[in-house]
Amino acid sequence: MNEIAVRVAVQDDGAFLGDMVVEAVNWRPGAARPRHAVITDPAHSRYLAGWMRPGDAGFIAVRGDEPVGAAWYRTLPRTEPGFGYVGTGVPELIIGVRPIWRSHGVGRLLLQRLCGHARSRGYVRISLSVDRDNFARTLYRSEGFAVVRSGVGRDTMVKRLS
Ligand SMILES: CC(C)(COP(=O)(O)OP(=O)(O)OC[C@H]1O[C@@H](n2cnc3c(N)ncnc32)[C@H](O)[C@@H]1OP(=O)(O)O)[C@@H](O)C(=O)NCCC(=O)NCCS
Repeated sequence: MNEIAVRVAVQDDGAFLGDMVVEAVNWRPGAARPRHAVITDPAHSRYLAGWMRPGDAGFIAVRGDEPVGAAWYRTLPRTEPGFGYVGTGVPELIIGVRPIWRSHGVGRLLLQRLCGHARSRGYVRISLSVDRDNFARTLYRSEGFAVVRSGVGRDTMVKRLS
């Protein structure tokens, strides 16, 4: 972990954020939905399209110059909600870490930086969506997220920031 630093995400990180959406979709061992199919699927491309728009924010975990993970948020409109949409003005968080860097604390570090940033921007809540059998739920709970809505196989979780 000593080799890992965290920097602010910039516009040029769009392709890497695409990689991380693919990781999030394929989180189950053995899952391998192709990148192209994921990032052209409107259900997922809405987390990436036009990055970075006003209101988008994110952080990249890097080892030297190499990105190893990312967490970002965007505030999607009610007409085009994400899986974890809970209301107007509540940003939704997306996170992914490259497989070989998982379970080393990178995800927690990114989550903490992003939530701190959202708080500093005046947001009162931040949301996410997670499959019910994804261990990432344990991470989210330990960082103060609670389930506010249960859907088919997945939950929406919210953290209060104030
Ligand atoms: C979910 C993810 C972002 C977490 O990042 P990470 O760097 O692996 O997580 P961390 O090392 O910071 O671990 C945080 C906590 O998660 C849990 N955790 C981590 N790896 C785990 C594993 N292999 N099995 C079970 N729990 C695990 C632990 O509770 C850990 O807490 P600890 O610090 O007390 O040990 C990352 O694993 C990932 O990209 N997974 C695939 C994509 C995905 O599922 N994205 C989220 C979609 S909602």
